[in-house]
Amino acid sequence: MPNVSSRYEGLGVGFAPYLQPPGPEVVRWTVGEPGFKTPPEIINAAIKELNDGNTKYTRGAGSMELCQSVADYLFEKHGIETEAENVVITPGAKQALLYSFMITTMPGDEAILLAPSWASYEPMLEFIGAVPVHVPVRKDNFHPDINAIRSAVTDKTTMILLNSPNNPTGAVFTPEEISEIVEIAVENDLWIVSDEIYARLNWTDYPHVSPATCPGGKERTLIINGWSKSWAMTGMRLGFLTGPENAMKAAIKSQANSASHVPTFMMEAARVALSCDNYVEKFNAEYLKRRNIIKQGLSEIPGLRIGDLEGAFYAFVDITGTGMTDIEFADGALKAGVQLIPASLITGGEGFVRISYAADEEVIFEGLKRIKKWLA
Ligand SMILES: Cc1ncc(COP(=O)(O)O)c(C=O)c1O
Repeated sequence: MPNVSSRYEGLGVGFAPYLQPPGPEVVRWTVGEPGFKTPPEIINAAIKELNDGNTKYTRGAGSMELCQSVADYLFEKHGIETEAENVVITPGAKQALLYSFMITTMPGDEAILLAPSWASYEPMLEFIGAVPVHVPVRKDNFHPDINAIRSAVTDKTTMILLNSPNNPTGAVFTPEEISEIVEIAVENDLWIVSDEIYARLNWTDYPHVSPATCPGGKERTLIINGWSKSWAMTGMRLGFLTGPENAMKAAIKSQANSASHVPTFMMEAARVALSCDNYVEKFNAEYLKRRNIIKQGLSEIPGLRIGDLEGAFYAFVDITGTGMTDIEFADGALKAGVQLIPASLITGGEGFVRISYAADEEVIFEGLKRIKKWLA
């Protein structure tokens, strides 16, 4: 049997070992996926498109109608100015991230990540030969350490990767922090890749701000977003990428030479989703309720320390007070019937576990009961 290319040697698989479906008796606090059903208007739009025969090749970047709706949506919700011609609809935000890493780095170039960061970033960068440089976030609130970012820039740095609201920490970076990071990027002529997939899940009293809206940000920011989280469409694999014209020309080439485009019949469904704000708001009200339950419940358990749970649907819990490592904690919790993720699987996550409160309310209550009993 021939050897697989060395590109895959040592390449991580993120949280995968702890995301395996456990037995039915275990409650899952692991999966970053809404438990809600996809809104019926979206499903019906996809079915209609299928019945109308929209099953053939189409425009690679996505239908013009959908790209225009994305541009309108971004302006309306986040004040981001972009044009339909500079939007590419991708098979999930993940694919958009891969394109944006290819666009902003060459092999050997350094990309600054704020550690801990989402488990797929590092292997994805390594896959294409870029060098991830992990800059730890502040320990007290998981917000960026601006001086540390500035100090991490070298003459090999080409990109800073941001993700706010953040997976796994739940932090929402302040408008001032975002603007200071843009300043660093401007000073050093760097790209910013801004993963804004959780943009609608912000529980703070300040807005989600995209670096693209800060002075000097528009011409150097690639924005990644998608339908998975806020519209409960994870399995439909729909994301998008937008940014300056030169980068988007490269994104179109990336897509043309790999995925071609997302399924033709899903374009209209994705467009309909953008007008389903009532569902987004309804889901958000539920998440907020769940966040408050998990925040209250975890703060009552001795040995656990949690922050403010500012956004997304993750609690990043310091478990060092229990005397266990995060692996011991996750393994013990699993035996007690709760699946969660030990964060030492990612750089900078030692001593923490990640809990997803996208799970249903009963699952959250049941998990809290089991963890309390186990630790008692
Ligand atoms: C931070 C972050 N970015 C991107 C993604 C990928 O989203 P998609 O399902 O659109 O590929 C996820 C999914 O968990 C995520 O947490």
